[in-house]
Amino acid sequence: MCGIVGYIGKEQAAPILLDGLDKLEYRGYDSAGIAVFDGETIQLAKARGRLKVLREMTHGGEMLPGTCGIGHTRWATHGIPSDTNAHPHFNGTESIAVVHNGIIENYLKIKKQLQEKGYEFVSETDTEVVAHLLDYYYKGNPLEAITRMMHRVEGSYALGIMFKEHPGKLYAVRKDSPLIVGRAQGGSLIASDVPAVLKYTRNVYFIQNEEIVCLEEDRLNFFNVDSDPIEKEPVTIQWDVSAAEKAGYEHFMLKEIYEQPKAVLDTLNPRIRDGKIEIEELGMTDEEIRSIRKIFIVACGSAYHTGVTAKYVFEGLARIPVEVDLASEFRYRNPILDEETMLIVVSQSGETADTLAALREAKMRGVRTLGIVNVVGSSIAREADNVMYTWAGPEIAVATTKAYSTQLIAEYLLAMKFAQVRGTVSQEEIDEMICDLKELPVHISMLLDHKEKLQRFANRYVAAKDIFFIGRGIDYAISLEGSLKLKEISYIHSEAYAAGELKHGTISLIEEGTLVAAVLTQEDLYKKMLSNVVEVKTRGAFLLAVTNAGNTEVEKAADYVIYIPKTNKYFTNSLAVIPLQLFGYYVALGKGCDVDKPRNLAKSVTVE
Ligand code: F6R
Repeated sequence: MCGIVGYIGKEQAAPILLDGLDKLEYRGYDSAGIAVFDGETIQLAKARGRLKVLREMTHGGEMLPGTCGIGHTRWATHGIPSDTNAHPHFNGTESIAVVHNGIIENYLKIKKQLQEKGYEFVSETDTEVVAHLLDYYYKGNPLEAITRMMHRVEGSYALGIMFKEHPGKLYAVRKDSPLIVGRAQGGSLIASDVPAVLKYTRNVYFIQNEEIVCLEEDRLNFFNVDSDPIEKEPVTIQWDVSAAEKAGYEHFMLKEIYEQPKAVLDTLNPRIRDGKIEIEELGMTDEEIRSIRKIFIVACGSAYHTGVTAKYVFEGLARIPVEVDLASEFRYRNPILDEETMLIVVSQSGETADTLAALREAKMRGVRTLGIVNVVGSSIAREADNVMYTWAGPEIAVATTKAYSTQLIAEYLLAMKFAQVRGTVSQEEIDEMICDLKELPVHISMLLDHKEKLQRFANRYVAAKDIFFIGRGIDYAISLEGSLKLKEISYIHSEAYAAGELKHGTISLIEEGTLVAAVLTQEDLYKKMLSNVVEVKTRGAFLLAVTNAGNTEVEKAADYVIYIPKTNKYFTNSLAVIPLQLFGYYVALGKGCDVDKPRNLAKSVTVE
């Protein structure tokens, strides 16, 4: 979702801005723009479509000389994707330029008031209000204008701002939208995310809510909303540029699918010591763990799907009731929370607006909160009482794969820890499970070796209209993820169904040749699943089955079978998801879709 960048320093700004925007492409966008200040004029270039259009239009940035600038990739919220609505936006005299990520919720009210004062608007965006409001408050002091603007606007924002009367300075401010600042050799940078600055610096500052930064070529000054100077410490980013590049893979998604064995290992290893599960970041005593009577797992999209799996694992192992909620629903349903409740929010980006809002709601109501988060220093990581990081590294493809897999690992570990402390499973069982967990990376690698077979199979389905995924229990949770992976990147309609529920309506959609992917990894449900498989088969479905090694009986009904290695029944999701990710990837590839940047989607969904 919208990406912002900014640069001030010795170098020409435009190529650095374009390069930074390139690194933020994964966030999803429909138009892009840059504004560059040469000390006299602020020049603007913006265009609907891919960054390529902007590059060509500006001859790689050459047409906008100057050493200070801001850039933006826009994911439309207010106003259609168009050249006019693309950022940056100017005030009327083109002396203030603004880029914005977030939503100004009270923009209509402010717009009306500004129009009454004679301000003219050219775009349909909420952002243009900020440019005019800054103009209204600006009396020669940018900081004063920014803080007054902050007191007026409601909603979320990360803003990059240039004032023509202040060459040599670039301003940035945030509330509820991500923003980082970096100091590099000969210049300073702002960005929505680390990959955009990594080429220039590893030392970044995470800007907190309602903090303002004034960037100069050789220094950074930070302020709070009262304009008081504040001190901030930089954080050194450990991962390097190559982690955010394709490394020879055709797409980030494929690269990230292949990084799963390592990501799983990195998330697992630090939490298993001397055969025991140690999750220090949990910050809970055994007594506190025993006092929890109910767990809520709250997340969006694929992260929510890991929660659906985790419910089975937690309830099965630790015997604690778990409710899994979509974050966008949770806060509006007045959930019943008390001091014996714990809330776990799961998020790759750590910036998903609904998940963050759910976390805040729970905190406000005095509930203990834990974030399972991938992006270090993100809003959820900072605001949750405790944070358990998934060590997947930067995930660039919009469709999550390795972050999803590491979220599962974090949830398994938590469930096992709770079970251990509460005495609901024996040490022997825990030991066996630890062995199974440690084998997962090897099993995942083995499944990845079969990618050509899956590609051949996927190529037959590029023209499919509907594809169904069915499963029971944990296999239903895998089906949800398999279905989402396929539809979000291939644009083929797909549904996941609890297999037993199919005959209560949806089975009427099955016709000759409809592909049904059935997941059968739960041995206690295997027979029941076989019946469901036969039900769809007899109605003409073409059947893809994913099941445990040895379950050959399914071959009688299924047209194509993928076997996964045997593992603990609670961990099968980690294996079954691999062929389903590859299937989705290859169908999308076969259709010629933009796999890493599917239409209408954003990597980090920072609006509700
Ligand atoms: C799907 C996908 C999304 C995210 C969801 C939550 O492939 O990536 O469904 O899982 O938008 O995002 P995070 O995990 O960043 O909160």
